Amino acid sequence: MPEAWWRGAAIYQVYPRSFADGNGDGVGDLAGLRDRLPYLAGLGVDALWLNPWYPSPMADGGYDVADYRDVEAVFGTLAEAEAFIGEAHAAGLRIILDVVPNHASDRSDWFREALAAGPGSPERERFWFRPGRGDGPPNDWQSIFGGPAWTRVPDGEWYLHLFAPEQPDFNWNSPDVVREFHDVLRFWYDRGVDGIRIDSAALLVKDPDAEPDGSDPYTDRDGVHDIYRGWRKVTDEYPGRMLVGEVWLPDQERFARYLRPDEMHTAFNFDFLNCAFEPHALRKVIDTTLATHAPLGAPPTWVLANHDVVRPVTRYGRADTSFDLQDRRHGAPTDRALGVRRARAAALLAMALPGAVYIYQGEELGLPEVEDLPDELRQDPIWHRSGHTDPGRDGCRVPLPWAGDRPPFGFGGDPWLPQPADWKDLTVEAQEPDPGSMLNLYRAALAARREHLGDGAMTWLPSEENVLAFTRDSGLTCVVNLGPAPVPLPSGDVLLASGPLPDGLLPPDTAVWTR
Ligand code: GLC
Repeated sequence: MPEAWWRGAAIYQVYPRSFADGNGDGVGDLAGLRDRLPYLAGLGVDALWLNPWYPSPMADGGYDVADYRDVEAVFGTLAEAEAFIGEAHAAGLRIILDVVPNHASDRSDWFREALAAGPGSPERERFWFRPGRGDGPPNDWQSIFGGPAWTRVPDGEWYLHLFAPEQPDFNWNSPDVVREFHDVLRFWYDRGVDGIRIDSAALLVKDPDAEPDGSDPYTDRDGVHDIYRGWRKVTDEYPGRMLVGEVWLPDQERFARYLRPDEMHTAFNFDFLNCAFEPHALRKVIDTTLATHAPLGAPPTWVLANHDVVRPVTRYGRADTSFDLQDRRHGAPTDRALGVRRARAAALLAMALPGAVYIYQGEELGLPEVEDLPDELRQDPIWHRSGHTDPGRDGCRVPLPWAGDRPPFGFGGDPWLPQPADWKDLTVEAQEPDPGSMLNLYRAALAARREHLGDGAMTWLPSEENVLAFTRDSGLTCVVNLGPAPVPLPSGDVLLASGPLPDGLLPPDTAVWTR
C-alpha cells in the first residue's frame, strides 16, 4: 500500500482574505485563488490548508463562523468552492479545511435561536449560558483575546466566550453539538475535502460551574479526547482523509494523547515554531518531537509560521529569536538581512526533517512582519481587546505581493491592509528570475524534498558544538551552521544551500543539503 499522503506532505497555508483578489474589492477570494492554482502547483507543495472560508461577520477574520456549510459571500459561493476543490485535485493538490468547533459566530442561527428562546431553553443548552453572581459574571475567567470571558444578554444571563464576545463557546456536553460537527465533517468530506484542521482543539471541554481547584478550567480537559475519537470514526469512513489539530500544549505527554491511533492523525508542532534559532534549543525540540511521535506511529510536523505569529524573517533578525504568543515583542529592533539568512536556513532545516512541513503564504517570498500598520486600520480583535497594548496578528496577514512596482502589487483592488512600498522587491514577479531569491530556494527545496525525502528516519551525525547535522534514509544530509564561524561542508555533492558557500565552507546562519 502506498504511504498515506499526509505523512510526508508539504502543506501550504492559504489565508484566503490575503492571498489573491479576483474581483477587485481588496479582499482575497476564491476567484483569485483559482487563478493562482498554477503558482501553487508550481511551487511543489502537496496540499493546501485554507483558513476559514465560511459565512462570517469577520469579528475574528472568519474564526467566527455563521454557517459551517456554506462559503462567505466576500470569498465567493459554495459552487465556486466545489469547483475549486475539483481544480485543485486536478492540479495534484489536496485540500485541508479549517473547522472551528470551540465557538460559533454570535450571528449563527443557533446563537440567535438561543438568544430568542431565553433562559432554561434547550436552545441555550448548546452554548454556555449562566446567571451572573450578583451584578458580575458567573466566574472570573478572562478571554484569551483580553477582557472578561463572559458577556451579558438583555434578559440578564451571561454567555461564555473564550475569545471575542462575537464568538460564543459551544457546550460540548450537548448531543446536538456533537451531532452537528459530525455532520459538518461529512458535508465537506462528501465534497472531496481531504483533511480537516481543528481550530483551538484543546479548549472544547470546560466546566464553568466547577469550583476553582488549581487545574486549568478549559485547556486540555480529559473529556476532549472523546470528541476526537468521534471525529476519527467519521473521518475513517472516508479513505485517505486526515485530521490535523491546533494543540498548543507545552507538555509533550499531554500533547501525545491527541495523536493516539483513534484520535487525530497529526498536530502542529508549536514547540518547533516557538523555538529560538539556537543549536541546543533546536536539537532538543527535534529530539523531543521525534521521541514523542515515534511510539504513536504519527508523523511529526514542522512549522515555522502561520497566521497567528510573527513572520520568521522579522523574528530571526531580533536579539531574541524565540516566539511567544503572549508577547510578540512588537517593534523590537531587527536586522532584516540576518533574519532573511536565518529564515532561509530554517526553511532547509524544516524541509529536511522527517514528517510533514507547513508553509504559511508569503513565507516562500520572505515577507517580513508589517509592524507599522496605521492603528486605525488594524482589525485583529486582540488589538482592541488588549486595550491597544498587543498589536495582534494583522502584521502577518497583509495581502501578498504578486507583481508590479507599487501596491496593490497585482493582489487586486485596494488591499484591506496596506502593503509596504518596498515589497516591490519581494513580489513573485521580482523573485522569479533571481536564482538567489527566497521563492527559488523554496521551489528547489520542495522539488528536492519530493524526490529524496518524506517520512523515513533521520540519524544525527557527529558535529561541532553549534552545528546540526543529520542524514535521512534516502542518503540526503542536512547541515545547519548556527555558530559564529564557518565550518567544513559535509561530504557528497551539494544539492542545495541556503546561501553562498565561500571557500568551500558553510558560513554561519547557513544550511546545506548534500548527497
Ligand atoms: C486559533 C486560530 C486563531 C483564532 C483562534 C480563535 O488559534 O488559529 O486565528 O483567532 O483560534 O478561533
